[in-house]
Amino acid sequence: MTETSELAGAVAIVTGGSRGIGLGIAQELARAGAGIAVVARDGERAAAAAAELGGDGHAAYPCDIADARACTKTVRAVESGQGPVAILVNNAGITRDNIVLRLKDDDWSRVIDTNLGGAFNMIRAVTRGMMKRRAGSIVNVTSVIGLMGNAGQANYAASKAGLHGLTKSVARELASRNIRCNAVAPGFIRTDMTAGLPESQVEELKGRIPAGRLGEPGDVAGVVRFLAGPGAGYITGQIIAVDGGMTMQ
Ligand code: NAI
Repeated sequence: MTETSELAGAVAIVTGGSRGIGLGIAQELARAGAGIAVVARDGERAAAAAAELGGDGHAAYPCDIADARACTKTVRAVESGQGPVAILVNNAGITRDNIVLRLKDDDWSRVIDTNLGGAFNMIRAVTRGMMKRRAGSIVNVTSVIGLMGNAGQANYAASKAGLHGLTKSVARELASRNIRCNAVAPGFIRTDMTAGLPESQVEELKGRIPAGRLGEPGDVAGVVRFLAGPGAGYITGQIIAVDGGMTMQ
């Protein structure tokens, strides 16, 4: 069977593309023919990820997405180095877990500023170009925690629920310009973020997942590829849970 390349020639920004789910998404979009701009805080890891994608159509950009000016600069650099941005995947995210009583101001603001503010910064930075070209697809990586809430993750849940509102608002605002905006809400996926969970908790989690297993980055990446591409041309403002059936909203 031959691989389709429905994203041939398209430039895709993947934030947090240096590892975990973001790296899986970068690999999947590259397989679909896109040139990838790997945007991550850690420049060295981002460069290694871009090199691993193979070919010369990919590049890395060190950037803290919580910094609005850095995002604008990064998008400019991508557009002059690789070409107009057709796809933006807002995947970068962090956790700083604690119960509400013990959450520090910085735990709250850093998570909101990165997960929600970072996505907003990147969306605003790509929108002008996408509007001029009347084409674009934005995919936000959120979380089932943004749908369900979670004890000990008020900051993270609020940031991801905020992203759901951002997704729908951007979708409504830009649909007439042929720009789509959707969200993928992963359940529990095996990455560095979940590597610290004790085995007993993983077993307990599996019991709550109808599929009976944690997800892999590739499970999320396939859905992002679909939403980013022409097959999803009439889909906007949707939140798709990729969670082995855990939420079934
Ligand atoms: P990870 O911790 O393995 O990777 C996070 C990536 O984001 C890294 O590349 C890091 O450099 C980048 N990043 C973090 N802060 C940044 C900043 N300020 N500026 C630029 N880049 C920054 O995380 P993982 O597990 O791959 O998660 C990716 C996304 O998926 C996150 O948004 C996370 O909330 C979400 N998610 C993950 C789940 C999981 O079970 N692993 C479940 C549901 C959602």
